[in-house]
Amino acid sequence: MISLNSRQIEFATVIRDLIRNEKVQQMEYIKHHVGGVSCLEHSIFVAYLSFVICKKLNLDAAAAARGGLLHDLYLCDWNKENVSRIRRLFIHPQLALKNASETFAITNVEKDIIENHMWPLTISKIPHHRVSAIVSLADKICATLEMCGVYAKMKTRRRLYNFNSRYSYAI
Ligand SMILES: [Fe+2]
Ligand SMILES: [Fe+2]
Repeated sequence: MISLNSRQIEFATVIRDLIRNEKVQQMEYIKHHVGGVSCLEHSIFVAYLSFVICKKLNLDAAAAARGGLLHDLYLCDWNKENVSRIRRLFIHPQLALKNASETFAITNVEKDIIENHMWPLTISKIPHHRVSAIVSLADKICATLEMCGVYAKMKTRRRLYNFNSRYSYAI
């Protein structure tokens, strides 16, 4: 029996149509930041943290969750591409935006989240909404926790990942 609180049910409901899509599921096969954490797992982490922060601040939490889930939908196995690590940082938001726009009817706020999530590294790609800035911040927090090995030890890791394999299919 799956037991979720009301916030978790809302999160699962908001991302339900996205996470069931095969392109989103392809992120499971792309390594991200460190071994053992897939691009999909990272994206769920970012989406959930952004959703929770935006809920607390009374901002558009649904856009944060959906944009957060799609922010790294670049779908490139960099091991098979001749692209430098630096260049990847700059081009992957554009690839993610292209894939997300072709696959889903995403809103302007969600587009802004995806396109500008690497700010301030991408100096000219500035978030235009507070929600976008929060997803960008959440991305950095999640990436840091993943890269320093903290995320791998967090109890919430399995629970968060269940939004892919169980919760979002049970809602
Ligand atoms: Fe990214
Ligand atoms: Fe990311």
